[in-house]
Amino acid sequence: MTITAATKVLAVIGDPVGHSLSPLMHNAWIADHGLDAVYVALPLKSDDATAALRALKGMGFAGLNVTVPHKEAAAAAADRSEGPVANVLRWEKDGSLSAFNTDGAGFLDSLDESAPDWRGRVKRVLIVGAGGAAQGIGAALSPHVDTIHFANRTPERANSVASSMRNGRSLRWDDLERGFGAADLIVQTTTLGMVGQPNPDWPVQFTRPNAIVADIVYRPLETALLASARARGLTAMDGLGMFIHQGARSFELWFGVKPDTEKARARLMAALA
Ligand code: ATR
Repeated sequence: MTITAATKVLAVIGDPVGHSLSPLMHNAWIADHGLDAVYVALPLKSDDATAALRALKGMGFAGLNVTVPHKEAAAAAADRSEGPVANVLRWEKDGSLSAFNTDGAGFLDSLDESAPDWRGRVKRVLIVGAGGAAQGIGAALSPHVDTIHFANRTPERANSVASSMRNGRSLRWDDLERGFGAADLIVQTTTLGMVGQPNPDWPVQFTRPNAIVADIVYRPLETALLASARARGLTAMDGLGMFIHQGARSFELWFGVKPDTEKARARLMAALA
């Protein structure tokens, strides 16, 4: 495709974004659909990301993904937002800016794929972590389950995210064994287990025999947590599914077409290998 003055520009904005897989995923989908658009990664170091994002308004961007640490700023920059944290921005024909969050729905899409019967069997959820990802996933799961326990190294953040949900509870970090033993679905949302980060000894031996274990880390794709869950015969869900589905929902918001998520998985697995 030739880039011309008419080419639509989209970007992922965050810090860091140098290793983001979003450009690879979206540009391949853009090519699949023969669209005149290009998707780039823009690192934004700013104390006032809201102002920086608003300033893009006049520059003709068609849409943005916003990632850590600017998701709150993205919601604040928009004229309308689905919630206080946003990972997608879209400029409307009237010039106004809309914000969306596709992380939670993307997680549910991935869960539908990995454990199609989860809705019938997941009553108790344990979310490890209490950051933006934990908040988004918890909010998406909340209407479908009985309780969601949040366990976080810093307990105040677990209390705060738990109290934002009708059925949210907090669990002490040193009670993880109990949490692993009680949950039908365990979702690991911290950076632990990521390449270069510490790899804790997760108490997988305490899990129920039919528990589902999800990790949002996808570098490596098979984290130590997922490997031990699989060794125990549990359903294990890697972090690539949520990444692909949040992106597919973003793409649909900008272009009005559903991209091929299976093709994306094959391309991303090749890039990660
Ligand atoms: P995100 O928006 O991607 O969830 P975040 O808001 O920075 O990112 O959250 C990172 C999560 O990883 C937090 O739950 C953090 O725990 P704290 O709230 O105690 O910081 C967790 N985390 C990061 N490094 C950790 C570590 N070494 N041990 C335990 N938890 C860790």
